[in-house]
Amino acid sequence: MAPSIASTEPPLKDLLSTPPPPVLKKPSPVPSATATTQRYQATAEKHITSAVGRLRNHVFASGSGLQVQTTDGRQLLDFTSGIGVTSLGHAHPVVTAAIVEQASSIVHVQCGIALSKPYVELVEQLVTMMPSPTLDSFFLWSSGSEAIEAAIKLARTKTRRNNIIVMQGGYHGRTAGAAALTRSKTSFFAGTGPLMPCVYTTAFPYWHALGLPQDTPEEELVRMAVHQLEQTLAQQSAPSDTAAIFVEPVIGEGGYVPAPPAFLRALRETCSKHGILLVVDEIQTGFGRTGANFAIEYAKDVVPDIMTFAKGFANGMPLSGVVTRKEIMECMPAGSLGGTYAGNAVACAAALATTKYMVEMDVLGNVRRRGEQLAQGLRDIAADTQNGGSIIAEVRGTGLMLAVEFQSPSSSNPTLPANLNKLVQDECYDRNLLVLTTSIYPVLRLIPALILTEADVNVALRVIKEAVKAVARKAGM
Ligand SMILES: Cc1ncc(COP(=O)(O)O)c(C=O)c1O
Repeated sequence: MAPSIASTEPPLKDLLSTPPPPVLKKPSPVPSATATTQRYQATAEKHITSAVGRLRNHVFASGSGLQVQTTDGRQLLDFTSGIGVTSLGHAHPVVTAAIVEQASSIVHVQCGIALSKPYVELVEQLVTMMPSPTLDSFFLWSSGSEAIEAAIKLARTKTRRNNIIVMQGGYHGRTAGAAALTRSKTSFFAGTGPLMPCVYTTAFPYWHALGLPQDTPEEELVRMAVHQLEQTLAQQSAPSDTAAIFVEPVIGEGGYVPAPPAFLRALRETCSKHGILLVVDEIQTGFGRTGANFAIEYAKDVVPDIMTFAKGFANGMPLSGVVTRKEIMECMPAGSLGGTYAGNAVACAAALATTKYMVEMDVLGNVRRRGEQLAQGLRDIAADTQNGGSIIAEVRGTGLMLAVEFQSPSSSNPTLPANLNKLVQDECYDRNLLVLTTSIYPVLRLIPALILTEADVNVALRVIKEAVKAVARKAGM
């Protein structure tokens, strides 16, 4: 008879009396930082879309101020602030405390169901910071692109017109409507058309985009751009069909080119004349980035009809907004604006803490001082032609939204690499400074946290100087 399973087992008393086998004290292997990082990178390679186009495959583990630590132990000085987001630096203790406190009380208050305390208190704070008291009616969403979608809807609903005019080189986001307004690079929408129709393009006063010499006087650039706008309204989009003109007061993705105040004034006059709404996109420029609360303030007397904002005011939490006059906002029927996560309570608490800190600690003053220091240092690097400065075509920008445009290949120098900005970026990265490029032209952009110190600026300038020198040497200049 075959033994039953039960009969093959030793009696329980034998098991109890048998001494346990010696435990082999072999410690389980602790993965090295490099092995862990390699695992993350392999997972990313295999399972995370390459469509985001990451600069590097480093994994950020922690951050404090402008310092970032990677999982494999590298310490980087961050002059990107996550593209203008961590205005008060990484993990600012005041903002973190506000996040923790709010998350400990209530995380999600759906905006169509009820108000949340931080949402209302944030709006009270924002009202005091607007470039004009006429901008007094808000809707909060999560991303910048969503704020743009809301602005499109608002402008069309208010005017009962379809057409939208945007700037050549402008960037407004990647969602369907926002991408239709984007003109900085085709990579944001190539192959995905047809995009939202009824969007028309007009010139922005930027010498390179207009194919003009770099020393073209600003008045001439403005004159040409205004002329182009008149043509757009006469030949492409009749004023009576035009709902809005969208403009960034400093073109961001298009190359960090500040709009001359005279151009913004001309846009304002044209809009007022034809009943077109002027939409100023302050998503990248807003909340102190340029040394004013909003960059539109540099164009005295130009008040937007609608303004969009996001990024830097919540220090990393996803929050955006659109603001307009109450009389315009009232055209939107109940339920026409909203979203599951719109105006999330934790994000609002972070934004409330961030914006209050900005005002109380005079962050604008720091932006102006450090912006001047950084801009002057960059101009000095450009002027030092013995050490590679001649590869720099222009240093421009406002506050802590600064750009270095490098030389492009030309008939007098056809062998010059077309991507000097990327080469300098790589050299900076090798020296542990994280910087970004932007635009279809060879532009390096500097957009550090607004609370950076004089010492941070000095470190960055030293690295950029070395990087420019190294690239110029390799380019034979
Ligand atoms: C001027 C401007 N508008 C809109 C956006 C889109 O914002 P988001 O990436 O949050 O959708 C950006 C983002 O860089 C921007 O700079």
